[in-house]
Amino acid sequence: MSRIFVTGGSGRLGRSVVAGLAEAGHTVISVDRDAIPAGQLPAGAEQHTADLLAPGEAERLIRETAPDAVIHLAAIAVPFSAPEDVIFSTNTRLAYAVVSAATDAGVPKIVTASSPTALGYGSPAGWLPPSFPLNEQTPPKPWNAYALSKLIAEQTVQMFAAAQGTRIRYAAFRPCYVISPEEWEGALTQQGHTVRDRLQDPALSAPALFNYVDARDVAGFLDVLLEKMHSIPNGEVFFVGAKDALATAPLAELFPRFLPGSAPLTAHLTGTSPAFSIDKARELLGWEPKRTWRTELTPPFEGEDTASSEQAALNDEIHAGLVPAGATKETP
Ligand SMILES: NC(=O)c1ccc[n+]([C@@H]2O[C@H](COP(=O)([O-])OP(=O)(O)OC[C@H]3O[C@@H](n4cnc5c(N)ncnc54)[C@H](O)[C@@H]3O)[C@@H](O)[C@H]2O)c1
Repeated sequence: MSRIFVTGGSGRLGRSVVAGLAEAGHTVISVDRDAIPAGQLPAGAEQHTADLLAPGEAERLIRETAPDAVIHLAAIAVPFSAPEDVIFSTNTRLAYAVVSAATDAGVPKIVTASSPTALGYGSPAGWLPPSFPLNEQTPPKPWNAYALSKLIAEQTVQMFAAAQGTRIRYAAFRPCYVISPEEWEGALTQQGHTVRDRLQDPALSAPALFNYVDARDVAGFLDVLLEKMHSIPNGEVFFVGAKDALATAPLAELFPRFLPGSAPLTAHLTGTSPAFSIDKARELLGWEPKRTWRTELTPPFEGEDTASSEQAALNDEIHAGLVPAGATKETP
């Protein structure tokens, strides 16, 4: 059991991270400009309201609460939701303020939230990666202030890791499109429509390359990451996503419709395979997401799900020894 300081604990992702880590037995200190509403703060959590950009605030709160770990989530979390210079300066200054204050206070484990958008998909000038699935080796090519600020947040922890050696452990993670528990039941997601809308109209999910992750699975990832940080290389970056795509058709069919030129790169994304690999988190940390849209959406999706039927046929072929197990990457 540890004392974990979570910035942005009142946010869409933060609420599930605070709840999940408290449930796992940690003492959670949530710090946000906005309070978690009375009655919703989980047992085992305390909260402080503060502007972490105010001079000295991050340092004061970290020293007063003496945590064993800091997880930095606070940010402007939606691209183009504020002027570009405001997003850039808010997110980069927040990351620097929190990570440097935690480092100065000698907090042994420091983690910051990045974003898959650092890769640069959606650029109006066009974008194609060298290969799919996308992973931590895919070259980042941010094209807006939000994506750039997230890449700089990663580089901020890596800069401190370079200076500190292994005295302090750092990591960054790129959560896919976060879906919180209430959003499975119909609340609007970050982009203003429901999960069901995203499944019914692939044009809504295509801009995020059909990625997603359950917010509680992110909390589980962070719990495992904090436990294993001492035994992995310092300053690592991880994708954190679901094991399938947020789509009812295989991505091999959808990508050519929404990402010009991608057909040769995505033909192997059959069945329920996602565009983003989480193999690094699996291999280095032994983490596995527990939830998929097929298990969480309430009420369940009733339309056609050809991705799932194709995956079932592929699984049958694997079991019959007709296809090597590695040939299809993910199963739901
Ligand atoms: N939601 C997603 O799909 C998603 C995907 C990739 C990355 N992320 C990253 O995960 C993190 C959390 O995202 P979210 O969706 O929960 O965002 P959110 O907007 O719901 O929450 C962010 C929280 O940060 C707080 N905050 C902002 N500025 C602050 C300041 N100066 N001082 C104190 N608190 C401040 C806000 O009050 C808010 O509660 C962000 O860093 C975001 O970039 C989110």
